[in-house]
Amino acid sequence: MANRKEHRILERNDDLGYPIFIAQDARDELLAFLRTSGLPSVILCDANRHVRAIAEGIARASRGIPVLPFALGESRKRLSTVERVLDAMAAAGVERGALVLGIGGGVASDLFGFTCAVYMRGIRYAHVATSLVAMVDAAIGGKTGVDLRQGKNLAGCFRDPIAVFCSTDALETLSAAALREGLAEIVKAAIIEGGDLFDLLEELAPHPVARWPWLEVIPAAIKVKTMAVADDRLETGARATLNLGHTFAHAIERASNYSVAHGKAVALGLRAAGLLALRTDRFSRDEHLRVLTLLALLGLPLQTSLAPNAILAAMRGDKKKRGGRLRFVVPRAIGDVEYGVECADRTVRAVLERMQQLPENFRARR
Ligand SMILES: NC(=O)c1ccc[n+]([C@@H]2O[C@H](COP(=O)([O-])OP(=O)(O)OC[C@H]3O[C@@H](n4cnc5c(N)ncnc54)[C@H](O)[C@@H]3O)[C@@H](O)[C@H]2O)c1
Ligand SMILES: [Zn+2]
Repeated sequence: MANRKEHRILERNDDLGYPIFIAQDARDELLAFLRTSGLPSVILCDANRHVRAIAEGIARASRGIPVLPFALGESRKRLSTVERVLDAMAAAGVERGALVLGIGGGVASDLFGFTCAVYMRGIRYAHVATSLVAMVDAAIGGKTGVDLRQGKNLAGCFRDPIAVFCSTDALETLSAAALREGLAEIVKAAIIEGGDLFDLLEELAPHPVARWPWLEVIPAAIKVKTMAVADDRLETGARATLNLGHTFAHAIERASNYSVAHGKAVALGLRAAGLLALRTDRFSRDEHLRVLTLLALLGLPLQTSLAPNAILAAMRGDKKKRGGRLRFVVPRAIGDVEYGVECADRTVRAVLERMQQLPENFRARR
């Protein structure tokens, strides 16, 4: 495996009409970008000490722009926090023509992006992604928003940032749990893309993540997202492929009262989508096993003790809202997924029953 420190390539993705910069340290590109776009009026950041240190470094290098830190986390991804950020921006005198820079993980990109979309009916926003989820998923594609008591991401809007910056060095301080959240989404992207990204993950999976060549993995995962989003900004069609495993994942999260983290639920959802594809004669057992092996090597779960009835009930909650039919994204092959697949409840139930046990060939290893 290449030594990560020698890996200083800068990648730039312009598929969505705004640049996404990916480098081991993208600060020079950020500062150069700010010289042409105009300096931000304020920097909003997650109050996490590592994220705050990144924000303060950028502020020092750009004539002492004020840094406004906010305690975030999923429980604070709420309208009440948006109001606090709006108040702080108004108090700092942020004007209609201003640019605001936000720094943090997926909660920060969702919440600050949304706040800037509504502040004075919308001001320019750029994001520095500091978590793996934000780099490969949340900061890209223009979905912003917050949670309501009734569920996740229920209030928000589509609003593109003017640029996104990913410095892979930031991943060094990220917790193993937060990193695993991102890995699950990268596996999802690899199943959609097939080919190089999937092969690369299989090669890397036995190695410690600290030594992964992120400058190969992250741009490849971002490419899958930008290609799916580019032609379908508002998710009326093919963008839905990005929801692979997510009908199951969201139901598992809800049925567990959110004690199963999203990334783990996505891993379970990827296995369930594979099982659904096998039962409907779409997928090969060999490819299904390749996916399961990859998930297991990455320390992601394949089995849940949640009752099938509880997961089905959570899915039906969703179903009512979408005109009575459950739809799934299922793999036909690694590199070929189908969306909008309707399945009979009994097939879904059989899959969920199977999810209570580990796959046959995996029992001996655990
Ligand atoms: N808009 C979208 O398309 C989209 C897509 C995927 C996920 N999301 C959202 O993203 C959120 C999850 O993102 P997340 O996993 O980044 O959560 P997060 O932003 O809460 O970050 C996870 C944890 O890591 C900390 N952290 C962030 N960067 C760090 C760093 N460099 N070093 C040390 N600690 C750091 C944070 O303070 C937090 O404790 C969810 O709210 C989800 O809904 C949105
Ligand atoms: Zn997801």
